[in-house]
Amino acid sequence: MAPTTDSLTEAAAAVTDLVEATPAPKWRGTLLIVDDEDGPRQSLRVIFKDEYDLLMAEDGPTAIELAQKHDIDVAVLDIRMAGMSGIEVLERLKYVKPEIEAIMMTAFETTDTIRQALRLRACDYINKPFDISTMRAAVGQAMQRRKLEGEIHTNAEKVQQLLSELQEQRVEEQIAKTRGDIYASIIHDINGPLTVISGFVQVLNQRLGRSTRLELEDLEFIKDRLRIIARQVGNCIEISRRYLGFLRRQPTESAPSVSVNHLLRDLEQLIRVHPSLLENEFGVTPLAGDVAVKINGTDLIQILLNLTVNAFQCAPLPHRVEISGEVLRTPLDLQKFKDGQNDRLLNIEGLDNTVPLVKFSVGDTGPGIPPEVLPKIFQPYFTTKGPRQGTGLGLNIVQRLIKEGNGALHCHTRTNEGTTFTVYLPGTALGK
Ligand SMILES: Nc1ncnc2c1ncn2[C@@H]1O[C@H](COP(=O)(O)OP(=O)(O)OP(=O)(O)O)[C@@H](O)[C@H]1O
Ligand SMILES: [Mg+2]
Repeated sequence: MAPTTDSLTEAAAAVTDLVEATPAPKWRGTLLIVDDEDGPRQSLRVIFKDEYDLLMAEDGPTAIELAQKHDIDVAVLDIRMAGMSGIEVLERLKYVKPEIEAIMMTAFETTDTIRQALRLRACDYINKPFDISTMRAAVGQAMQRRKLEGEIHTNAEKVQQLLSELQEQRVEEQIAKTRGDIYASIIHDINGPLTVISGFVQVLNQRLGRSTRLELEDLEFIKDRLRIIARQVGNCIEISRRYLGFLRRQPTESAPSVSVNHLLRDLEQLIRVHPSLLENEFGVTPLAGDVAVKINGTDLIQILLNLTVNAFQCAPLPHRVEISGEVLRTPLDLQKFKDGQNDRLLNIEGLDNTVPLVKFSVGDTGPGIPPEVLPKIFQPYFTTKGPRQGTGLGLNIVQRLIKEGNGALHCHTRTNEGTTFTVYLPGTALGK
């Protein structure tokens, strides 16, 4: 999800404040002078002592030690020194801190030595004895470069900070949005069982209100309806438990399985009392030989119920909805499945295509889905129903549950003929 313009502006403003509100402390560079002769060392000290923090070394090892302890910006190195030569010191200094700027002082060196120094990224060389203004200019320029590099580095760090703050903001927003979607999904999914419960409570009330004393037949009736209510209450609890687990990022239990025919019977019972059934007809065809399907039962009921309710709601006039199960003993030929004018596929690439596969179809004889609408049906909050009739979450929930179950979905639709949603899920032997 893209962050909102507001949040981006806020984050950008915060970082601009950060960049502007922290005035850079007055920068005073650190200069290292390395010469084994006392005379030039002392004159360099006099020249630079007021401008920079000075460090003095009379030989290479001392210079390296100082570089390890201090944050040196520029070094002035005599090339010809007893012991370690200036070139060696330069090499070691660059190793300690590659950004150090080095100015070499040469006396009678060959061009080869000077070339070598430049190869080791010395920035300048000055003849000895040096003249003060040349030396000042060379050190001044080197310091300026270090200062600029430092600023670039700090700004790069600030930009990096800005980027990571924006990223954090994005993640936060993503989490908030996911939470919002999940809360909406809980309400959407619980609404189904709640409607059934409230319908049965009304029926029970009417029955109880009619009779002055309860006959055995009444008791049976009440018991039966209470059983259905209890099951639906269980369903509500299970739905919220699963969604809340999702919110808390608890891993879902590994591959639970459920009997297909048992589940289709439950579904039939639910549909029979579902308010969206109205005058429509429906049929549920179970499997000839039952198998289990590797998915949580509540999830599968949610998938099939969402598809069935959509099928009932697709046309105002009474029409027929067929729900059936089938076991496939050969893997699907995935090449055959293509998105098109009349077809929409979901998670074909994520399908666990090992047999047995269980195929569930929910087909209606409604108006079909227009080609311009078909690509949008799985988007969250997309609905063609009135504002009080649809939230547009049903198919988005179906999509998520199918992906979680390593299944796939195929929607085939034809204008004026109807729509069939086919769900493929990995199956297994009963009792596994
Ligand atoms: N069987 C169908 N026949 C025709 N159109 C369908 C069918 N199933 C889904 N659609 C189209 O897909 C859209 C999205 O369906 P989805 O289930 O996501 O949301 P909804 O049914 O509109 O709202 P909700 O599920 O929240 O009640 C529907 O509004 C409808 O236009
Ligand atoms: Mg729906």
